[in-house]
Amino acid sequence: MILNSRLILALDVLSRDRALHLATALKDRVDYVKVGYPLILAAGLDIVGEIARIAPVIADLKIADIPNTNTLICEEVLDSGAAGIIAHAFVGRDSLSACVEAAREAGGLVFAVTEMSHPGAEELMGPAAERLARMAADCGVDGVVAPATRPERISLVRSIVGERAIISPGVGVQGGSPSAALKAGADSLIVGRSITESPNPAASADAILREIR
Ligand code: XMP
Repeated sequence: MILNSRLILALDVLSRDRALHLATALKDRVDYVKVGYPLILAAGLDIVGEIARIAPVIADLKIADIPNTNTLICEEVLDSGAAGIIAHAFVGRDSLSACVEAAREAGGLVFAVTEMSHPGAEELMGPAAERLARMAADCGVDGVVAPATRPERISLVRSIVGERAIISPGVGVQGGSPSAALKAGADSLIVGRSITESPNPAASADAILREIR
């Protein structure tokens, strides 16, 4: 995984032109651009390849299906140019392993969600997060997604996943602190609206980069 700026841009915009503009303007400030359902549904899967020509893409499809379907989804999005994928761990070892195998075939990275950053994640995912992190590590993922909104959970996940990467959303609009998340053990921050909805996205990205340097 690339860890230069330690910043991943969450590109949740609905216009192809806006997405390409933001990716181009911010490519030197971020290690990856994370593209998910909002942009892919609005602009089509080709947007993955278009953005990948600007910066490496992590496809955040939170893949969560039976192993065969997971394999098909991973192959499709990795063939489209994604450098990495995000998959759910809660669906089980066989489904997550299918994603790992597909990523290995394509030379891509796979990240497993252990616990999400929003308040509702505390209902069911929180209590299961340690088991999910352990299972993800057993399956051989490259990294996990852990919440910047709960730095203490990042530390716990770090104690389980060892050297594997931890990427953390929840900074800014969701209330998480960039420096606290990194101090707790995150390798990289996933940041969306604080940058994409700013009147000056580059300046907002720079402010985060200054805080974490
Ligand atoms: P904002 O605008 O809140 O965007 O900075 C955050 C981005 O990260 C995604 N997200 C998550 N992805 N596990 C994930 O795999 C999570 O816990 C999680 N929380 C937020 C969100 O969809 C958006 O793209």
